[in-house]
Amino acid sequence: MRERLAQREPDPRHAPKELIAAELAAARDRSLAYTDLEDDLLVRQHSPLMSPLVWDLAHVGNYEELWVLREAGGITPLRPEIDDIYDAFKHPRKNRPALPLLGPAEARRYISGVRGRVLDVLDAVDLEDPDPLRAGGFVFGLVLQHEHQHDETMLATLQLSREPGLIRDGESPPGRVPSAVGAGAPSREVFVPPGPFTMGTDTLPWAYDNERPAHLVNLPGYWLDRWPVSNGDYAAFVADGGYGDRRWWRPEGWEWVSAKGIHAPLFWTRNGDGWWRDRFGRMEPVPPDEPVQHVSWYEADAYARWAGKRLPTEAEWEKACGGRTFPWGDAEPRADQAGLGHRAARPAPVGAYPAGAGPYGAEQLIGDVWEWTSSWFQPYPGFRSFPYAEYSEVFFGETYRVLRGGSWATHPTAARTTFRNWDYPIRRQIFAGFRCARGAG
Ligand SMILES: [Fe+2]
Repeated sequence: MRERLAQREPDPRHAPKELIAAELAAARDRSLAYTDLEDDLLVRQHSPLMSPLVWDLAHVGNYEELWVLREAGGITPLRPEIDDIYDAFKHPRKNRPALPLLGPAEARRYISGVRGRVLDVLDAVDLEDPDPLRAGGFVFGLVLQHEHQHDETMLATLQLSREPGLIRDGESPPGRVPSAVGAGAPSREVFVPPGPFTMGTDTLPWAYDNERPAHLVNLPGYWLDRWPVSNGDYAAFVADGGYGDRRWWRPEGWEWVSAKGIHAPLFWTRNGDGWWRDRFGRMEPVPPDEPVQHVSWYEADAYARWAGKRLPTEAEWEKACGGRTFPWGDAEPRADQAGLGHRAARPAPVGAYPAGAGPYGAEQLIGDVWEWTSSWFQPYPGFRSFPYAEYSEVFFGETYRVLRGGSWATHPTAARTTFRNWDYPIRRQIFAGFRCARGAG
């Protein structure tokens, strides 16, 4: 969507309202599909890390009230008395079940009522208004991406619930990984030559504040894994005693795995000689050729050290995408280029998307699994908070590590090479994996 808007340059503010309305409808269909469950599953807290699903559902509508109705539209809110309950900053997730939440039916009615007024605002708004919330439909991009991000969060909650049969699955294209790197097989690493590149964006109309401003970054040459690290690769680290060998771990990471007794990715269980995993409530053998997911930053960092490599910085990750909106160019993702939008409820095998390669040959940078980088979540030089400090600014510092690229659960509207995600280095419920890098020296 944002790309379809950007293609109307030089003035991306001529965004067609019908496209925005259609994207809003599609995001809502997705939210309603993930919450088309018995009430008990919606109000229950499946993990202290997550909200009850019914909180996410009403929060999506409350966020629209706040940003589209009040801030952009100047309209009286429908339910100002519930703002506090759905303010993500006032109540940590673990406390949300104790709040007087709207019930499932009421939440659905509420968000549908808000949506009706949002469409009225869209109808009336001047997308060429210089106000930064209205210009180019920014505020609609904001709530759209927000809803899709909550949809991905809901999928993580459903995975944690370990309840079978709640979400749809699908097919992935086959991988083409050289388990044996034979003649003619692509090399497992690509080289990115030294030199400057433009990091971040000034031009994508729906980019978040933390992706701005665009700025030049000069990097020495480096090698980057062509594909994300696979389950098979990762199982070799486990088999080699990686979790029990202090040499591979940062002190904080070592402390964490030792204290928690962690010895494999989340949802993995030993079964005889092999590994099985719980995927949305069903046990299955861990497929060796899929990118590993549900590993923390500490695990990714330890694996990389064991492999004689390191995690890429986020600049290295982004440079491998060639300064484009997507690694392959600026056109919207095709199904043969990236695993996005929950086509299957899993990442596609390594090597499944050669058509999505970046200019240096790295594949699967977008989609399949979020990729941990070595970088802290920090502002770019010249950063300006917009539209509110709680979006990015309050998270800057040395607390959160940056993830890039989006996962199979990420919608294309919230995926691009400049998009920055961040989380605590111990988090494993997100659909995150990684790839490694090493210096050229
Ligand atoms: Fe939110």
